[in-house]
Amino acid sequence: MSMSQRMSTATPAPFASRPLHPGFGIEVTDLDLSNPDSDAVVDALVSALDTHSLILVRGQTLSNARHVDISRRFGDLLTHVLKQFLTTGLPEIYVLSNVSEQGKPIGNHKEGWNWHSDLSYVAEPSMGSLLYSVEVPPEGADTLFASMHLAWESLPPATQTRIRNMTATHSYEGYYSRAFADRAPLTDEQKARTPDVVHPVVRTHPTTGRLSLYVGQDIVKQIDGLPAEESTSLLAALNAHAISDAFTYRHKWQQGDLIIWDNRCTMHCATPYDDNRYRRVMHRTTVAGTRPF
Ligand code: OGA
Ligand code: MN
Repeated sequence: MSMSQRMSTATPAPFASRPLHPGFGIEVTDLDLSNPDSDAVVDALVSALDTHSLILVRGQTLSNARHVDISRRFGDLLTHVLKQFLTTGLPEIYVLSNVSEQGKPIGNHKEGWNWHSDLSYVAEPSMGSLLYSVEVPPEGADTLFASMHLAWESLPPATQTRIRNMTATHSYEGYYSRAFADRAPLTDEQKARTPDVVHPVVRTHPTTGRLSLYVGQDIVKQIDGLPAEESTSLLAALNAHAISDAFTYRHKWQQGDLIIWDNRCTMHCATPYDDNRYRRVMHRTTVAGTRPF
């Protein structure tokens, strides 16, 4: 029997899919997104994202313009504060890469080598990202994804009660200075665009009402109102819980994969690869979101 199946919602979804993980994520099959005729299906993917949190579509051949057009159907697009990595000619595309051309990196290397959700360090973080693989190493460089709905729902009730109304401070500058200690620090302009922000530790999905844990490594500086040691250990415990195998999906990239994820209820983390030997080029678009509550 084929692994593919029609979605069994009230209105049948106009695409075939299979689960990637028992609790979240689907792979949509038999879909050519390069064709503008697929726009109606893309609109169905926009609502499928609310239900599934992550959507994989393999085997795509997308021009940069088409990648941006598809992404726009999800909402307004954000441009990254690290302008030096917007190198495709379309400012909506943020490049992640270890490749240099004419002595200049074409993308940010070692981006996302920590558990995070995109742009959690701004007041209105991204609702979702669309990452398209242009060139991938034959081994390594998997991306891990965690469902923060599952993470929240599986916490012991006493912990849920304890953290339900807590907030945390997210800091891009703190993350940047640690993750990229070998680089020049952020400019004053970049810092001005990324002041520290406070978000709830438990957030509500704005379209489904489902709760999720909203934490992360490195970017989350502290849980507010606690003594430093307690904040550090609670944060570490929540992060460790969230990224346990039961709530994570490990993606092995092939060239032409597009993954769309919901930053409101998932975290992700890059993994290393032999960057002396292999090239990796990934294109990301980032959809605007609203203030977490
Ligand atoms: C991202 C990201 C991880 C990876 O694109 O936002 O964190 O594996 N990517 O490239
Ligand atoms: Mn990321």
